[in-house]
Amino acid sequence: MEERKYYDEFETIVGDILIHNEFQKLKKIDHHGNGLFQHSVAVGYYSFRVARLFGLDCRSIARGAILHDFFLESWQGKVKTGKGLKRIKEMHGFSHPKTALVNARKFFEIDERQADMIVKHMFPLTPIPPKHVGSWVVTAVDKWVATNELVFKKTQPIKRLRSLMSRA
Ligand SMILES: [Fe+2]
Ligand SMILES: [Fe+2]
Repeated sequence: MEERKYYDEFETIVGDILIHNEFQKLKKIDHHGNGLFQHSVAVGYYSFRVARLFGLDCRSIARGAILHDFFLESWQGKVKTGKGLKRIKEMHGFSHPKTALVNARKFFEIDERQADMIVKHMFPLTPIPPKHVGSWVVTAVDKWVATNELVFKKTQPIKRLRSLMSRA
């Protein structure tokens, strides 16, 4: 089956991340009705597919993409203490890409291109645009997956992946 072939290739590339204890903790964090683990794997997988389709560095993009939301604290209901600009910077939408990059660097080897994918994935909410084509892929795929999660609740792209994720 075609999809299985692609998922196996993806799993070979990101397998160490999928089974890592810290990354597994994302399963406990909700994201638009799906676990953040499933959201992250979906963004990683579809970024990998887009990269592969366009002959980009699919290994680098898959690994950067799967780590784009690698934050370990649920943000819903988190109390913000700052005021003005500090409060805006504390807002999840602005702060989590940086948190994800700190965590990604702590547990995995991250190069400059992958750092750009992680830290710029919220563009244009965060105003500095992506520097590399892989980062544009990740920011677009993240929005597509998140839109599916919001609009279709238990999102179709994640549902399709769920059976393939059985080993993670
Ligand atoms: Fe994000
Ligand atoms: Fe995301």
